[in-house]
Amino acid sequence: MALTLKINGVEHSVDVDPDTPLLWVLRDVLGMTGTKFGCGMSLCGACTVHMNGNAVRSCVMPVSAMVGAEVTTIEGIGATDVGKRVQEAWLSQQVVQCGYCQSGQIMSASALLASNPNPGDAEIEGAMSGNICRCGTYLRIREAIKVAAK
Ligand code: FES
Repeated sequence: MALTLKINGVEHSVDVDPDTPLLWVLRDVLGMTGTKFGCGMSLCGACTVHMNGNAVRSCVMPVSAMVGAEVTTIEGIGATDVGKRVQEAWLSQQVVQCGYCQSGQIMSASALLASNPNPGDAEIEGAMSGNICRCGTYLRIREAIKVAAK
C-alpha cells in the first residue's frame, strides 16, 4: 500500500504494510539509518524521532499514523534552530561515548527545549528519563542541554 510521508520537509512515497513500525521504514526503505533500534518495545529511546514536534518512539509507531504529520529525524533536526544548538552543545560538552543512543538523546533534548526553553534539572530528568545510555553519559547530557538552553 502506497503511503505518503513528510520527513525532514521532504515527501516520500513508500509502498509498505501500514502496520510497519516507522523505524523500519526510515532505516530499511528510506536508508535513514541515523535512527537506531535498541529494544523495539518503547523502553530505551534509541529510536526517538519527532512527530509534529513531539518526541515519539518510532519502533512502536505504525507508519500509517505518520500520514499527514511532519516527521523529523536526526538527519533533519540540525536544520532547526533548537536542533542546531543541541548538536553544537553535544559537541562542545563531548557528550558521546559509544554513540549508539545519542541520536535518540538529541531528539528528546530538542523536543524538550522547543517546548521549554530553559528547563531545570527536574524537568530535564523528567523529559530524558526514557532515553537509556549504557555508557552513562547522563551528566554530560544534562550539561549539554543547559548549554543549548542559553
Ligand atoms: Fe524504540 Fe527502544 S528501540 S524505544
